[in-house]
Amino acid sequence: EIELASKNIGSKIYHFESIDSTNNMAKKMASEGAAEGTIIIAEEQTGGRGRLGRTWVSPKGTGIWMSIILRPNIAPTEAAKITQITAAAVASGLRKIIGEDVGIKWPNDIIIHRKKVCGILTELSAELNSVNYIVVGIGINVNMDTKDFPEEVRRIATSIKACVGRTVSRKNIVKEILHSFEELYSDFTYNKNIKKSIEICKKYSVTLGKEVKIKNKEKEVVAKAIDLTEDGQLLIKNQSGVIEKVFSGEVSVRGI
Ligand code: BTN
Repeated sequence: EIELASKNIGSKIYHFESIDSTNNMAKKMASEGAAEGTIIIAEEQTGGRGRLGRTWVSPKGTGIWMSIILRPNIAPTEAAKITQITAAAVASGLRKIIGEDVGIKWPNDIIIHRKKVCGILTELSAELNSVNYIVVGIGINVNMDTKDFPEEVRRIATSIKACVGRTVSRKNIVKEILHSFEELYSDFTYNKNIKKSIEICKKYSVTLGKEVKIKNKEKEVVAKAIDLTEDGQLLIKNQSGVIEKVFSGEVSVRGI
């Protein structure tokens, strides 16, 4: 019962009261043939997942826990572009609704008042060199009271309600995000162009120009984030002045 301006994205919406994870459900439906643009939304997730094997706390009725099924005709190595398109769409959509300074922390966090309000989890199913489907999961803390967050979470995360001081319609946010997403995603699929998304990611970036600590399984480096490439990867200048490209896959990025 939601009136969308987007056509392809959200043409089918499945709304659940409680499931383990909308990404899990989306992957299951995609593997059974669900069409591109199908959306899975849940009021509550009992096993919400974040990046790098983390848990994503998803209480009932106060957040947006949703996943989009995509079937782009791209190489698996391009999947990170989908995360950038999504971050651009979420930041633009939120800005329209709440008029706040919404930032993007590369590669997948949406930031308000220096704290995280939203995370994006892009998952890929591919065979050889072609993408079978991509599920992009979006988790937004909307109407929760941050006093209910555990202390260590409150230091790094916030909710939209806490930032704007009032309850905000989740429906309107979903509408606005899907509308922006459709525009940016179709530019990508029809015109092979993510310039517009990358421009938005750069303009709203809270990472570029900053010292960052980049960590993966093997190592940790301190460097300055200097640019985003055309394909959505981060360029850093390390302490010896050498410029390197960081792939979003397995890294965590911290401001220092
Ligand atoms: C992160 O910041 O680590 C990514 C968080 C992604 C959370 C969303 S909520 C909807 C979808 N279903 C999941 O289990 N995770 C994503």
